[in-house]
Amino acid sequence: MKVWIDGELMDGAHARIPIIDHGLLYGDGIFEGMRATGGRIFRLDAHLARLSYGARALHLQLPGGLPALRAVAEQTLAALGDPDAYVRLIVTRGDGALGVDPNTCPRPRVICLADRIALFSEEKRRAGLALITSSVRRPAQDVLDPRVKSLNYLNNVLAKGEARRQGADDALLLNAQGNIAEVSVANLFVVQRGTLLTPPTTDGCLDGITRGAVLELARSLAIPTIVHDRHGSRHRAHRQPRRRDDRHGRSACHHAQARRRIRAPARCRVAGCAAQ
Ligand SMILES: Cc1ncc(COP(=O)(O)O)c(C=O)c1O
Repeated sequence: MKVWIDGELMDGAHARIPIIDHGLLYGDGIFEGMRATGGRIFRLDAHLARLSYGARALHLQLPGGLPALRAVAEQTLAALGDPDAYVRLIVTRGDGALGVDPNTCPRPRVICLADRIALFSEEKRRAGLALITSSVRRPAQDVLDPRVKSLNYLNNVLAKGEARRQGADDALLLNAQGNIAEVSVANLFVVQRGTLLTPPTTDGCLDGITRGAVLELARSLAIPTIVHDRHGSRHRAHRQPRRRDDRHGRSACHHAQARRRIRAPARCRVAGCAAQ
């Protein structure tokens, strides 16, 4: 593993952060988990845009701005010397006093790590994954905006742990209304009679970069994707004009979960998985 901390590249075994970093003390920070293939980070721009969204939501200054963070991610990957890797860019609130007050932290800390990762074996990926429906719910949007990829991953950790204790590979997480939001660290797609369905971000899932790529591919291949907007109208995703319908001006894609409801099973098996 190679790690970049505060301007220095080092081996993972030597990487240290002070105990008073609010990222450690309070989960105060954001991150992006990115995949590199052939020495290039997949959709790096989209990851940086999501990091920037999270930073705005947390009133966190990104040191050096996005160009500096791009360079950090690319340099850390290059230092690993493996073109196919996982790159995690982390921005914490930085060092501060005990107590949650972010004002005691004058300088956010940038950390980047690059390593190999294999969440599921090739065999599992081919055979499919066993899922349970977790008793842990995704936080409501007014508790923690699900589009912010923050350092608070406890509900994901608890859901995964619940799945493992029950002999499953992963867990479906529902939102407070009982609608499926996503899997512990992945978005979910269902193919129902040739139509692609995926929960809208308004149901509590992360606005996944892979999800965005899948929806784009579906559109370009004219694969029907049922979506519905906030007013309940139904559209075909690949014909839907892109709409600017949220605070930060991002286009959103919603599927008609209310109309074509996928019921959360106690246990199920998913055919494939994009995570490695
Ligand atoms: C909660 C959650 N949902 C979905 C995803 C998939 O997002 P992406 O495709 O941007 O990696 C992740 C990735 O880490 C995640 O943590």
